[in-house]
Amino acid sequence: EKGGYDHFMLKEIFEQPSTVFDCLRGRVDAANGTITMAGVEANIEQLKNAQRILIIACGTSWHAGLLAEYIIEELCRTPVEVEYASEFRYRNPVIHKGDVIIAISQSGETADTLVAIEKAKEQGAIIFGIVNVVGSSIARASHAGAYTHAGPEIGVASTKAFTAQLAVLAIIALKLGYEKGTLDNKRFLHLLNELEAIPEKIPAALNQAEAIKQLAYKYKDARDFLYLGRGYNFPIALEGALKLKEISYIHAEGYPAAEMKHGPIALVDENLPVVFIATRDSYHEKIISNIQEIKARKGKVIAVITEGDDVITQMADDVIVVPAADELVAPMLSVIPMQLLAYYIGVAKGLDVDKPRNLAKSVTVE
Ligand code: M6R
Repeated sequence: EKGGYDHFMLKEIFEQPSTVFDCLRGRVDAANGTITMAGVEANIEQLKNAQRILIIACGTSWHAGLLAEYIIEELCRTPVEVEYASEFRYRNPVIHKGDVIIAISQSGETADTLVAIEKAKEQGAIIFGIVNVVGSSIARASHAGAYTHAGPEIGVASTKAFTAQLAVLAIIALKLGYEKGTLDNKRFLHLLNELEAIPEKIPAALNQAEAIKQLAYKYKDARDFLYLGRGYNFPIALEGALKLKEISYIHAEGYPAAEMKHGPIALVDENLPVVFIATRDSYHEKIISNIQEIKARKGKVIAVITEGDDVITQMADDVIVVPAADELVAPMLSVIPMQLLAYYIGVAKGLDVDKPRNLAKSVTVE
């Protein structure tokens, strides 16, 4: 059942070329320049007219939501807020009739997310669910939605469900931006092609597995890790840190790279590995300066870079290479080394990576 892999987590990481492909299939047609997504089409007026979009989720799904905020605001110019379901449900949030709420959940059974959307529904919001498990409670409680089609995810750490969530969210942003007219045709077609190309690029990211395994042995005894990214890769820094905490029990923090100097830089010394998600994008020069700041304080830099990036290769202690992609879709590639690094460190420490202590696959209690 593990298909020859040692663990479900590894199997699920390696399934991503086909799970992302399955998620895009029948929806994205770059050759014809079209997107088909029934749930979006049926609610396009509400989405176009929404004064704002609220995204509600927990954990890894919340990280997908944070990236969606950046992408939807960029392409659709609709204000987006991302909330932890557990906070949203207990405070007294302002919800207007016609607000669109996107709930993201792999299991579709997360209690906090379910209660949060029920509360919002009572106040007139439209609920759009992005769920992996077909027929789950959140799918049923939503007015409309889109499944991620990643197949059953057994490992407690979410991997393939996350990349499928990102794919669905990108489709929604592209469709909405196109329909609203905030995204011009040229960029729309370019991004559609970039999105469609992701499943073909994932294998090159997976090919770094052996190199990442070596890094895992090198860094497995570190007490803490810092994960830094900017822009579209900031949510990936958060996700990398969460994966490491869950699977290897090493304390890790994800931060926006420029926020370092407001505190966390005090942690940096020769014992601290700092993972930079530093693929080539519009923040590239800025992140290079952040790498210099860490090197000046003798931190160990592990950088996820775009292939051919000699500048960062010279500066970093170790690099992990991923294929080039437009910055809006690149996180679907840059997250893969995060998953593999956490996995191999967990394995190197002899831990039960599929069932980490204290965690359950779906959190059906508050
Ligand atoms: O099933 P959900 O997507 O609603 O689950 C949300 C979180 O519990 C989940 O993402 C959790 O953070 C994972 N263990 C992360 O790997």
